[in-house]
Amino acid sequence: MFASLADPKPDVILALMAAFRADTRSEKLDLGVGVYKDEAGKTPVMRSIKAAEKRLHDSQTTKAYVGPIGDAAFNEAMVRQVFGEGFATERVGCAQSVGGSGALRVIAELLREASPNASIHVSDPSWPNHVPLLGAAGLTLHRYPYFDNSTGNVDIEGMLNALSQLPSGDIVVLHGCCHNPTGADLTTEQWSRVADVMESRGLFPFVDLAYQGFGEGLEEDAAATRMLASRLPAMAVAASCSKNFGLYRERVGAAMLVAPDAAQAKRALGKLSAVIRANYSMPPDHGANSTRIVLDDETLYADWRVELEAMRLRMVALRQSFADHMRKRSNSDRFDAVATQKGMFSRLLLDTAQIDALREDHGIYIVGDGRINVAGLPDDTDRMAALCDAIAVVTRD
Ligand code: LMR
Repeated sequence: MFASLADPKPDVILALMAAFRADTRSEKLDLGVGVYKDEAGKTPVMRSIKAAEKRLHDSQTTKAYVGPIGDAAFNEAMVRQVFGEGFATERVGCAQSVGGSGALRVIAELLREASPNASIHVSDPSWPNHVPLLGAAGLTLHRYPYFDNSTGNVDIEGMLNALSQLPSGDIVVLHGCCHNPTGADLTTEQWSRVADVMESRGLFPFVDLAYQGFGEGLEEDAAATRMLASRLPAMAVAASCSKNFGLYRERVGAAMLVAPDAAQAKRALGKLSAVIRANYSMPPDHGANSTRIVLDDETLYADWRVELEAMRLRMVALRQSFADHMRKRSNSDRFDAVATQKGMFSRLLLDTAQIDALREDHGIYIVGDGRINVAGLPDDTDRMAALCDAIAVVTRD
């Protein structure tokens, strides 16, 4: 049965995680997989989530199924968080999903069914798993230019030029904030230009919103998604609670379909429910229920906002510290963009040999495309200096 299977292609991020775990050096440093880490290098359970979990434990009276689209109260709270107060929520059909990835996958399957001839376009570069995940849903996948290596900013003209040549009805995956892997986000003005092209070409935005609250703030990070929803007749959003609620392994997210009117939103959600039923049947409850408790409770919600903002500000400070150290050590502005890029990742301009040397000679783990997890940078000045020294050594001409 299995002998004819081709050798599996390892996922670069998961392979790096395994290599890091296997490394016995005590001074090793993990800048690989995108999980938040605190000053002690730990990925903590958030205080507000712990409190919600206790409440859930004490009050839950059943483990009966939640149904394919999950808990209505969770879905309502997530729609509020993504689209803000005052949005015409009857335009949105929302289903609780198995993380942001689960949302991406079931939405992609629905879109393929709704529009079998549409192609899907992802940024170049993008999160490595976008390609297998969306491709496995049966959509034909293409890439559009996104990152300007020489400036560390978005290649906005290249991007707009590519989008303006797409056929009407094609699907464009956009990172709502905190672009993974580059940290290079569109400015408000650039988002507006993207919306102009999407509108005039009749393209369908599919927003991956995995880091809301990690870039410029909870509301600010949703601004582009909200603007697109207000300007375009239809779109989709895959929202993740993995990072901003620290719920990685619990697999919490939401699949949202925005339609021109309530009747189409209801039809789309009904179909999404059938896609979910035919896939994993129903989502798990624990993480989404804990999230819902936080979002619906004034005190826990306020505390969660404090925790989230502290994580965001710590990453902003680490970015600045890294850029300052690198400027001194490299005697160049080559790493300056890290200070202004957003969210959990930046892409360093390193080649494969340099990335391999960092790992092998210094125990520093960076994804093969040069992506670093900013939250993994050391707060300690000596350790930051040692990291930057190592990068300066491997990049010395
Ligand atoms: C990442 O980009 O590192 C995270 O989203 C984790 C993953 O599943 O790849």
